[in-house]
Amino acid sequence: MTNDSRPQPEAVDIQIARLRDLFVAHHASDELRLSFDRRLRERRAATQLGSRIKARGLALVGASGSGKTTAMDRLFDTHPDLILAEEGRETAEVLRLQVPSPASLKNVGTELLHGLGYPLSRDKSAAIIWTQVRQFLRARKTLFLHLDEAQDLYVSKGVKARNDVVNTLKSLMNDRDWPVGLVLSGTHDLLEMINSDAQLRRRLHVIHLNPVSWASHGADVSQILAGLIAKAGLRPTEQVQLDEFLKRLIHAGGNEFGLIIEMSLGGIEEALYSKDLQLTVEHFAASFRRKTGCIPAFNPFLAEDFQRIDVRKIIGWDASLDPSLPEGHQ
Ligand SMILES: Nc1ncnc2c1ncn2[C@@H]1O[C@H](COP(=O)(O)OP(=O)(O)O)[C@@H](O)[C@H]1O
Ligand SMILES: [Mg+2]
Repeated sequence: MTNDSRPQPEAVDIQIARLRDLFVAHHASDELRLSFDRRLRERRAATQLGSRIKARGLALVGASGSGKTTAMDRLFDTHPDLILAEEGRETAEVLRLQVPSPASLKNVGTELLHGLGYPLSRDKSAAIIWTQVRQFLRARKTLFLHLDEAQDLYVSKGVKARNDVVNTLKSLMNDRDWPVGLVLSGTHDLLEMINSDAQLRRRLHVIHLNPVSWASHGADVSQILAGLIAKAGLRPTEQVQLDEFLKRLIHAGGNEFGLIIEMSLGGIEEALYSKDLQLTVEHFAASFRRKTGCIPAFNPFLAEDFQRIDVRKIIGWDASLDPSLPEGHQ
């Protein structure tokens, strides 16, 4: 029996992997695609005409877990007519980079040169590295540069480093010979960088991945959850369809779009692994317990006063983790 049952968990694994692969479109991802496509058409037309107009770009801003990286991956991976960086191919219309740690212009420049296929010794100054980056962006016909976690180049930096970052990024878009559009994604700190400079602010269309609340998105969350449950082939109990449960789910996902989907899939996964056909609140509670190891008083699917639970702290989404018990629960 144990040997024979091996194919079954595999089928479940595949089913779960499929669910985890699903992309749920949302307002910001639609806006992102629309805005990017307009800028792409604009850049292509300008290139063809040999026009010297400066490039424009966009920024996707949202908290950690809102779904920025996923939305960007989706935009670029499924784009019908973009030439991405590929080995052995000269043209790379889009170049993507997660800002490396420690975040500095020099590190970003060096990694970009690597990405463009031109390794460079690290002892060069940031200014020389970026001059080369601009030459190579032109050689590879790069139209857009995507930097993820772009706020890291700006937050907790001194005035000079901040100015250097803003000027370097602007100079990419303003290059007379080969302007490159910026696509930035990052947390709200990124807004501080963009708003610090009038030109940057004018040239970047900012799209927000806003927090999700029951009041603003209750109906959407209900619909998304129902869709995921149906795709998983499960039947929800009545309790799982109640407003009360959806409020708990939104809270458990820290009010962020991506994390709410992750929490939803966590419960669904629990049911699928247990081979239960009916999806219950207990599946969600068990998944949360598994993720955090926390007691029921800290479990937003079980605790009576779930609104008081600081989910980000408990789950470790924020740096410091101190799950001291709230009063009355010790
Ligand atoms: N549109 C989406 N559809 C499905 N799942 C998503 C979506 N956006 C985010 N997620 C889920 O949420 C998690 C966090 O998203 P991520 O893109 O890493 O957030 P961020 O980059 O803003 O920190 C991802 O691991 C992914 O599973
Ligand atoms: Mg990310």
